[in-house]
Amino acid sequence: MENYDSILKNYLHSIEQRIQAFSQIQEPRTLYEPIAYILNNGGKRIRPLFAVLACQSVGGEPVDAIDAGVAIEILHNFTLVHDDIMDNSPIRRGKETIHTRWDTPTAILSGDAMVGLALKSLESYSNLTNFGKIIERFTRALIGVCEGQAIDMEFNTKQEVSSVDYFRMIERKTAEVIRASLVLGGLCAGAVERDLQTLEIFGHNIGIAFQLQDDLLDMVANQEELGKRIGNDILEKKKTILILMAKEQVEIDEDIELISKIYSVDKIDDTLIQKFDALFQKLDIYEQVRKEIDSYISEAIESLENLPRNEGTKMLEFLANRLNDRTF
Ligand code: IPE
Ligand code: IPE
Ligand code: MG
Ligand code: MG
Ligand code: MG
Repeated sequence: MENYDSILKNYLHSIEQRIQAFSQIQEPRTLYEPIAYILNNGGKRIRPLFAVLACQSVGGEPVDAIDAGVAIEILHNFTLVHDDIMDNSPIRRGKETIHTRWDTPTAILSGDAMVGLALKSLESYSNLTNFGKIIERFTRALIGVCEGQAIDMEFNTKQEVSSVDYFRMIERKTAEVIRASLVLGGLCAGAVERDLQTLEIFGHNIGIAFQLQDDLLDMVANQEELGKRIGNDILEKKKTILILMAKEQVEIDEDIELISKIYSVDKIDDTLIQKFDALFQKLDIYEQVRKEIDSYISEAIESLENLPRNEGTKMLEFLANRLNDRTF
């Protein structure tokens, strides 16, 4: 296990180095400074790690997937910059968000340019016979995440959002990009269709688990560790898995009234975060969500039986288990 830790550290090192190359500050500084700021501000780099491990699991050289992983990581960072405007989020990775530190136009434009930088990272595959497939998969993820984000915003004004609607939305806004990182990793190794299918399934389950955790951590994490404002989803009245489950299970009038605040147009103040926390605890929502996460992660790990049993596959399992316990 310790060995896997050090291998992952090495992969991370190479990923960071490549990201550095995309963080050079040039003219105009108002465009490139915010890009360097977000790209060098930490982040778990889970997506490029998945790309590299997926490549290895189907028999490729891990290093061959670094540029694809970096492309996905830059795409992911673009979504974060725009998402923080949409969600009115003041902090990300422990620092002020771009639109807070600079302004919204700066954040919009830096995000836009990052889509270009992500594509640039894919240029190194232009000589591969499956370059077309690589571009296609990347584009699908880019469009998918925007669709998911649009549906997420539609929920803000919708009174009826079922958990089925919610799962369809997170499939696009979160799982799509995570799936793409795995499939792109596979494509960099010229994987056969059957293995690509397995990587899709693994990525889907990891992606769903990942967003459930993200919703959970918004309430239960330590702010310093998470690097985001705790309770932001409540303040922004997001229809998270916590709210949807609680809405289905509330019984007494006082609790029904509290939940209804998420669905009303009135502003929510900070003091309500604690009330929601108490309600979630009373209904055992956190534990229920943890079980759900656990089951998606188990499903992901089970699917790995269909891949060759090599170090890459074992590390995919290792990383999936590690994610199950994540606290940030
Ligand atoms: C946060 O992603 C946004 C989601 C899609 C849930 P991460 O939790 O991977 O954020 P970083 O990159 O590690 O900061
Ligand atoms: C964002 O979901 C998913 C993206 C596509 C960026 P959230 O809005 O819950 O992500 P955080 O919590 O701000 O990181
Ligand atoms: Mg959001
Ligand atoms: Mg957000
Ligand atoms: Mg969130």
